[in-house]
Amino acid sequence: MVKLCYLLGYPLEHSVSGVMHNAAFRELSLGYRFESLPLPPSALEKCLKTELRRKWVRGASVTIPHKMRVLRHLDEVDPLAMRIGAINTIVNNRGRLKGYNTDGEGAMRSLEEAFGNLKGVRAVVLGAGGASRAISYHLSKVAEELVIINRTYENALNIVEALKGYPECRASLSAKPLNRASLMEALGNSELLVNATPVGMWPRISETPVDAGLLGPRLMVFDIVYNPPRTRLLEMAEAAGAKTLNGLGMLIYQGAEAFRLWTGREAPIEVMRRAVEEALGIQT
Ligand SMILES: NC(=O)c1ccc[n+]([C@@H]2O[C@H](COP(=O)([O-])OP(=O)(O)OC[C@H]3O[C@@H](n4cnc5c(N)ncnc54)[C@H](OP(=O)(O)O)[C@@H]3O)[C@@H](O)[C@H]2O)c1
Repeated sequence: MVKLCYLLGYPLEHSVSGVMHNAAFRELSLGYRFESLPLPPSALEKCLKTELRRKWVRGASVTIPHKMRVLRHLDEVDPLAMRIGAINTIVNNRGRLKGYNTDGEGAMRSLEEAFGNLKGVRAVVLGAGGASRAISYHLSKVAEELVIINRTYENALNIVEALKGYPECRASLSAKPLNRASLMEALGNSELLVNATPVGMWPRISETPVDAGLLGPRLMVFDIVYNPPRTRLLEMAEAAGAKTLNGLGMLIYQGAEAFRLWTGREAPIEVMRRAVEEALGIQT
């Protein structure tokens, strides 16, 4: 019996997760298949109560807008995902659903590969959604300072309040509303900028969350958007002399960890990378 893994999100037109996971399943000759399941919020609960618990369903990847909503419908939540407060991977163990979060580990692996050890870094994270929660949690364990800047100030404040309660948090934390003055103050005092908003993502590729005047050669800029692979923000950061990183590595590493949770096998990372690059038309 072929085992299914779903992608739960809405809408799902431009995801490359299927291409990535199916290439990995084929590479290891596993009887698994990954399928997109576009699911409006009103249909989420029913899917988690029925379809996802079927014998032939091994689990799911979870994306916008369900990462926080799925929490209350699971039987068990991994302690790391509980701390982060968002789920991006579900495993179905004989009808019981357990939730995990692999986004933060994926992001940190990619960040440290590109920029080295981040211990003591002063960081700014833009956005306060599911991805920001995961990355902010991991950064709070290594950074000296962490500023979370978001369009809806309360959402940034909620993350800061949650992180402050964890004994493993070593960063001094603050939340700010998204405006030029906040960005200028925070970036003037930081080495790492993470864009965890969808600003600049296809098709609105001319948009950027930060203007060029605020970027400089001291900065490492990580844009977790991967489509396009070179966002307007990354173009401007490069032009300003900053080191840059896009969201492809995070996508692949969070996917590799999900693959391991579903199959118990190490993921063929290079196969996954090639499949994603081909799907996005990236020449290497
Ligand atoms: N590379 C990867 O592996 C990877 C993994 C996960 C996500 N992502 C990408 O990361 C982005 C965020 O994902 P998510 O799951 O965190 O989404 P999410 O939970 O919907 O959160 C989005 C965040 O971005 C902010 N935002 C949205 N539109 C904005 C705008 N026009 N201007 C300023 N802020 C805006 C939202 O602010 P409010 O709080 O005010 O609504 C919210 O804080 C998406 O583009 C997603 O594709 C990449």
